Amino acid sequence: MTVTRRSLLVGGAGLAAGAILARAGRAEAASPTTLTIDTRQIDVNGKPATRYRVFQPDGTMGLTLNEGDAFFVHLENKLDVPTDVHWHGMTEPWRQDGVPYVSGDPVPAGGTADYLFPATPTGTRWMHSHFGLQEQNLLAAPLIIRETAAIESGLQEVVMFLEDFSWTPPEEIFANLRAAKPDMAPEGDNKGLDLDDVIYDAFLANERTLEDPDIVDVEANAEVRLRIINASTSSNFWINLGDHQGTLVAVDGNPVEPLRVRRVPLAVAQRADVLVRVPGGAPLPVLALAEGRAMQTGVILRPAGAEVSKIPTRTGAETPRVTLEQELNLVPKVPLSRKPADRVVPVDLTGKMMGYIWNMPIHGLVGMPAQAARGERVELAFENTTGMSHPMHLHGHVFQVVEIDGKRINGAIRDTILVTPKTKVTVAFEADNPGLWAFHCHNLYHMAAGMFSTLAYRGFA
Ligand code: C2O
Ligand code: CU
Repeated sequence: MTVTRRSLLVGGAGLAAGAILARAGRAEAASPTTLTIDTRQIDVNGKPATRYRVFQPDGTMGLTLNEGDAFFVHLENKLDVPTDVHWHGMTEPWRQDGVPYVSGDPVPAGGTADYLFPATPTGTRWMHSHFGLQEQNLLAAPLIIRETAAIESGLQEVVMFLEDFSWTPPEEIFANLRAAKPDMAPEGDNKGLDLDDVIYDAFLANERTLEDPDIVDVEANAEVRLRIINASTSSNFWINLGDHQGTLVAVDGNPVEPLRVRRVPLAVAQRADVLVRVPGGAPLPVLALAEGRAMQTGVILRPAGAEVSKIPTRTGAETPRVTLEQELNLVPKVPLSRKPADRVVPVDLTGKMMGYIWNMPIHGLVGMPAQAARGERVELAFENTTGMSHPMHLHGHVFQVVEIDGKRINGAIRDTILVTPKTKVTVAFEADNPGLWAFHCHNLYHMAAGMFSTLAYRGFA
């Protein structure tokens, strides 16, 4: 397979395809990795379910690259419906961002698409369909750009890929949410509905429930690097190491000053890299407890010879709300330079449970894109007036969390920030990737119901 015309056209960032490959130490004639989208059957608590998947010819789900590699992918859509795959957390040229009607046309049924750009930034990223509600049918997979330091550390790496699962088709879930519920208070102050408006049947970690979990063999007393990805459509989790302490070293793939943790809040679309040392003798369950539910999922790290006993799916009590408390303690390894904002964009997060309508007016206007000019330091000032949390994601950029409820902080570098109810959060980014970018709440149903906007660069054709 040679570089296709589309790749050459959209190779991006001012670099020709050959230059991207040469920089990655690959010849121009190097072939891309093929990623295929089709369906497969998984087993959920003993029952078969047909869902989507995105995989390589050898069956590997998703893609793992090394720092310095080119992201060189040939995507095949074997479905009988259109799709579009977004590379979440990458700073690719906008035309390769995989958002239908924003970055380009979707990939038609039976069609293909080609991608070529420098695989930056490094770290734990992921990929998922951005077309309709396909993400709820598990069209998602890991995308890991292994940091040179992680490779050189020689640590075993374990990916924990979290998804929420329902036997109800997503279109029906959405229709149920939108159906007027007469007993429901407006503005989301109905208690039960604030945390979780979709009642899932299962939570998956690496496509399994705790009935039959993924058990990973590890070396006793050796450190393991967990790459935890919340690929669920509308479920926030608390990652729980029980009595063990781990070290949080990256959030959304971006390094933070090491933080000792037993629990890590993980909103929809966020990632956490946690180092854990598993002593010999007993397995270490890495659990993910679903916010507002009495359910958990997880993977089990098993040192040689350790007995694995069954861990219940049900927890004793409902898991409390995911908060921003730990966010205040995160310090980035590489913060943005200190600089006043050239532009502050107010983004209100609004909604009505009646009719399930969610919006994100920009400068008070629904339908207005956020704007930036190349070279500016931009701040997005979120104010959530609703009773629900919104995991807000900007494509094609990373941002720094700089303010929470009026308190200025030197916060983490992320691509997704949870804006909790009645809270103000401000993030800052460098407008260094011109294009038209999706900017939205990563709760799939909120996005589908209107909490979607764009970032448009001024003067950009
Ligand atoms: Cu995970 Cu619009 O993205
Ligand atoms: Cu939302």
